[in-house]
Amino acid sequence: QYTKQFRQALVQWFLEEQRDLPWRRTKEPYQIWVSEVMLQQTRVDTVIPYYNRFIEKYPTAESLAYSPEEELLKMWEGLGYYSRVRNLQAGVREVVEVYGGKVPDNRVDISKLKGVGPYTAGAILSIAYGKPEHAVDGNVMRVLSRVLNIDADIALPKTKKIFEQAVTELIDHENASSFNQGLMELGALICTPTSPKCLLCPVRDYCTAFHEGDPSSLPVKSKK
Ligand code: ADE
Repeated sequence: QYTKQFRQALVQWFLEEQRDLPWRRTKEPYQIWVSEVMLQQTRVDTVIPYYNRFIEKYPTAESLAYSPEEELLKMWEGLGYYSRVRNLQAGVREVVEVYGGKVPDNRVDISKLKGVGPYTAGAILSIAYGKPEHAVDGNVMRVLSRVLNIDADIALPKTKKIFEQAVTELIDHENASSFNQGLMELGALICTPTSPKCLLCPVRDYCTAFHEGDPSSLPVKSKK
């Protein structure tokens, strides 16, 4: 019953307190994909104007698939990590050519697309399609390490699997989109790397580190 209460508290908080971000106004898988690629190494405030310009110019997979690379790179200028946009276009082209323009709605096929790793796959599947798939990035690992008091070293590649398995048991199958985005939003607004705002946290009643440990000391991260 703890699990059910945790889900409900997280989802309700997300629905009430989420920031109004442009990619939260769409459920188009392609547009969610663009937002997640931009957000991978860039902060939300920086991404917003880039996302809006990009979607205005390339609103669909078809409109991006064959646009000239120099035009793309100009749209991306200032975001950095330019291989991201080349991989995005390559993946989008596969969607157009292999899947008739529809982003696959299952992890096996979506993971075959260029530039779509486990996190991006789970984000698209849950946010756009409502599928109960894990989407674990650094922020989500931080939140889960505290809620579940997990002290595995997040610098080790194999640790991600531990968190993916843990969240797979926790995920709200009826509200997968809000559940996953709730974890992301909690990490951004409340469960921050330093000085987490536990007194404002909607799930502190269910947080093991808040009750039994020291949230600020998690996650454990060795220097590689
Ligand atoms: N970071 C990664 N994905 C995000 C999203 N969908 N909203 C806000 N921040 C994010």
